[in-house]
Amino acid sequence: MRVLVTGLAGYIGSHTAVVLMEAGHEIVGIDNFHNSDKEAVARIKEISGRDFPFYEMDLLDLPGIDKIFAENKIDCIMHFAGFKAVAESVAKPLEYYDNNLNSTMNLCKMMDKYKINKLVFSSSATVYLPDNPMPLIEGESRMGAINPYGWTKFMSEQILTDGAAANGWSVVLLRYFNPVGAHPSGKIGENPSGIPNNLMPYIAQAARGQREFLPIFGNDYETPDGTGVRDYIHIMDLARGHLAAMDYCAGNGGVESFNLGTGKGYSVLELVTAFEAASGIDIPKKFQPRRAGDAAISYSDPSKAEKLLNWKANLNLEDMCRDTWNYQKQI
Ligand code: WQD
Repeated sequence: MRVLVTGLAGYIGSHTAVVLMEAGHEIVGIDNFHNSDKEAVARIKEISGRDFPFYEMDLLDLPGIDKIFAENKIDCIMHFAGFKAVAESVAKPLEYYDNNLNSTMNLCKMMDKYKINKLVFSSSATVYLPDNPMPLIEGESRMGAINPYGWTKFMSEQILTDGAAANGWSVVLLRYFNPVGAHPSGKIGENPSGIPNNLMPYIAQAARGQREFLPIFGNDYETPDGTGVRDYIHIMDLARGHLAAMDYCAGNGGVESFNLGTGKGYSVLELVTAFEAASGIDIPKKFQPRRAGDAAISYSDPSKAEKLLNWKANLNLEDMCRDTWNYQKQI
């Protein structure tokens, strides 16, 4: 199939593009480089050994994206593009609603105009309320958000669900837990601009000496070692989950949501210890007060994806840390 990948140069879009092309699919890429590096486009071509059309374009530019759909016969859309920083969304909520919701709306308009009926959406575990009992389960755990970023994912899921019902689209909503790691080549990975919001890139930058120490937000949670527990999933497992989701889309109508996680939770200190073992570097760390909005524990029940998508995460914490460090050393 020919797949339009929005946010192609981003962390998850770039790794998924490589996996799609390795599986024989063609891709067309869009990115406005708001939170990604132009260099990633060339790296994707280098890793896959394949060329593909790429457009530097903002999804809010409807006439601009209309030209892309007119020039390329698209079979399926994989929609990754969007603002994704939780704290920033609290400071700039209207920018988040404008960008994330209107991007999704514009893609819906293109699906309608160009009779495209398959879409895979980059959603997030953040659409589950943090006070749910664990593990988080599709269709059972209570949904909602506690910040504008989470609401944009929740609302985009609703827009796509209603659009699919009215137009007979096949839509898959993928709820990511905590993606970490990098492509084994070390040529693409997670390299956020500015101070990292997320744990793994912060650990990697502290290991490289780019950060004086790793702040550990809270060691008084009701967890085995007092630090926050999360469901970390290797980016390559996550990318393969998108390929499985697209195959599912091709064979099924309607809307389905799937958790993409390992079903296992690891604490901050467990991740730090694993990274120190993988890198051979002691990470300077300081315990600090809890971060507002953080849940103590969050992890998935991935069994629906394992059953219906015939997909299962199989890379472990050591793989995640080794590949992260291998990438960080090369940038
Ligand atoms: C993980 C753990 C922190 C940084 C976020 C978004 C979520 C999704 C994934 C997009 C927590 C602790 C972190 C640091 C720390 N993004 N931590 N020091 O918060 O689970 O999820 O990213 O979809 O929407 O909310 O991930 O990596 O920020 O935090 O101690 O410098 O690491 O307290 O326990 P989180 P995270």
